[in-house]
Amino acid sequence: MTAFPAAPLPAAPAPGRAAVVAGVGGYVPPNLVTNEDLVARLDTSDEWIRTRTGIATRHVVSPGTATSDLAVEAGRRALKSADDSQVDAVVLATTTPDHICPATAPAVATRLGLSGVPAFDVAAVCTGFLYALAAGSGLIAGGIAERVLVIAADAFTTIIDPQDRGTAVIFADGAGAVVLRAGSPREPGAVGPIVLGSDGENSDLIGVPAGGSRQRSSGVPAAPGEEFFKMNGRATYRQAVERMTETSLRSLAAAGWQPHQVDRFAAHQANARILTAVAERLGIEPERQLSNIERVGNTGGASIPLLLAQASEEGSLVAGDRVLMTAFGGGLAWGAATVTWPAL
Ligand code: UT7
Repeated sequence: MTAFPAAPLPAAPAPGRAAVVAGVGGYVPPNLVTNEDLVARLDTSDEWIRTRTGIATRHVVSPGTATSDLAVEAGRRALKSADDSQVDAVVLATTTPDHICPATAPAVATRLGLSGVPAFDVAAVCTGFLYALAAGSGLIAGGIAERVLVIAADAFTTIIDPQDRGTAVIFADGAGAVVLRAGSPREPGAVGPIVLGSDGENSDLIGVPAGGSRQRSSGVPAAPGEEFFKMNGRATYRQAVERMTETSLRSLAAAGWQPHQVDRFAAHQANARILTAVAERLGIEPERQLSNIERVGNTGGASIPLLLAQASEEGSLVAGDRVLMTAFGGGLAWGAATVTWPAL
């Protein structure tokens, strides 16, 4: 495994005040796409997709449905789970904002009846939820907010080239959200140390070449297909395994947990083989891993909160479970965090 330069561990949370998970919600759009549906239009097979990615079905938005529609639904469910209708801020992680400008979060907040609260977007691709969780936790730790709605939503298929079999079989649409409230660092639900990192040297492994100021300011019109998402799958795969393993170990060290004390491993559902490789390196057996990739595919930033919401609803994640979360994606950006799951 590559040795990475050691970054300082996050400072211990301020005594007496921490962000505590008070609610969770997830949403996938109703339109289900099977591997057979993809085989009908792409040079691929059900067997290849299952064995190389672990995906059997995924949900995709119908024409006219945008990221904010997914975010509002997940946010509503998280607020309901928290028995709440009011928060002081909304943070939305997304790679597929409704528009380049303005941010999508204010519209989401207004549709949730939260008009007037600070609301902003966070762009960290598949690690978006953990970055947004850090932002939300920071608002609480800094005394700027008492309650924060953190949403991660991606209509990823809106930027995927339907003819690119390297990405079209993996990426899908969905949203997840948590409500954070101010509480004590020692109570269940308190968000543990969040470890984040990035590497702009490898920003070309994952991205959309056209549509931003780099291409627009060049005066050269976008070449056909450049508005679609591109990924160097194999290089990304290698980086994902190394970064998620390393950042998980750092988050565990900061929390004072050993890998054997993790009850539930909730990793970004990038690819089932990546998840197995990371869990093996951490010594976390399959029965301690939460997974929904077979049913929902890779939903980008939405992946972790959607997984937590579904697992909590289905009973595979219960109060008292020590949860390790980790993610990796475009940027490059990665992260990990711990939480002891609360009674919701
Ligand atoms: O979400 C966060 C960031 N993203 C990730 O973490 C995803 C990371 N990458 C991956 O999950 C995997 O690299 C992929 C699923 C994208 C690809 O799987 P792979 O095992 O790395 O395949 P590969 O790209 O090395 O390609 C192996 C072969 C190639 O054919 P040749 O050159 O060996 O003849 C590909 O052309 O598989 C071919 N191939 C496919 N065949 C059938 C690639 N995609 C497909 C496909 N169906 N959909």
